[in-house]
Amino acid sequence: MKVLYGAEVPALRELTETLTSDGRLRHVELTLELPGLPAALDGLRIGHVTDLHFGRRARHLDALTAWTRSVTVDLWAVTGDLLESTAGLPAAETLTEALEAPLGRWFVAGNNDNRLLPVLGGLRPVLEPIGFRVLDNEGTVTEHGGRRLALAGVDDPTRFRDDLRSAVSGLEAEPFLLLLAHSPGVVFRETALPPNLVLAGHTHGGQICLPRIGPLIGRTRQPGCGRRMAAGLFQRGNSIVYVSRGIGTSILPIRVFCPPEVTTLTLRSAPGEVRRDAR
Ligand SMILES: [Fe+2]
Repeated sequence: MKVLYGAEVPALRELTETLTSDGRLRHVELTLELPGLPAALDGLRIGHVTDLHFGRRARHLDALTAWTRSVTVDLWAVTGDLLESTAGLPAAETLTEALEAPLGRWFVAGNNDNRLLPVLGGLRPVLEPIGFRVLDNEGTVTEHGGRRLALAGVDDPTRFRDDLRSAVSGLEAEPFLLLLAHSPGVVFRETALPPNLVLAGHTHGGQICLPRIGPLIGRTRQPGCGRRMAAGLFQRGNSIVYVSRGIGTSILPIRVFCPPEVTTLTLRSAPGEVRRDAR
């Protein structure tokens, strides 16, 4: 019997991941029909990438950059856990170079990114020079080619860094609002300006799932979120929420019946008016 340890452990991990999720990125393509979406935004395409967990290993980086260069989107959204350690910064830069979009590449922090704050001294000074635009509990309007999109980004709630009210402040007059969040738990926060569309990650789709049963554990502490909102499309009040399974892993380097995911979303105008009831 051979004892596996040290340098042989990564090989074991590779084997385990291959057996459990076949290691290939899955492209999820969604078309969302959204009442009240302004005509100028009809057809807007968003690329969504989340939970990369780049560290000493940058899993799926080659496949990911090849895919991002092959799709055409108007905006890239990276919803946190980009980094597992500072060793992942070169991979983050390589990824950024492959995220081309006229409305920009936008980033919100995840719990793992925030763990590195004492070392990095801040995410904005590190990520903005390599091409990300960081939304730290703040909102803005991005415009290109006659398209005007209000978007906001909220920090991660794991250490109570989220401030949704601050994130959406000043965007009250905008007819449509996209919110980027690491954790889908933030959609349970009270706000006078609910976003029309929320893109989130954090859950890894549960990471370990069983057929017909789904994820064994939820990865958000928010009551009512957990296993139920581990992956997929949801409605919370008047907000449409999409939770991606993301790309990386945490705690255990395996995915079981929960393959890594990259996502494109195409927004289409649907009949009806935007409702902005406070919650
Ligand atoms: Fe994550």
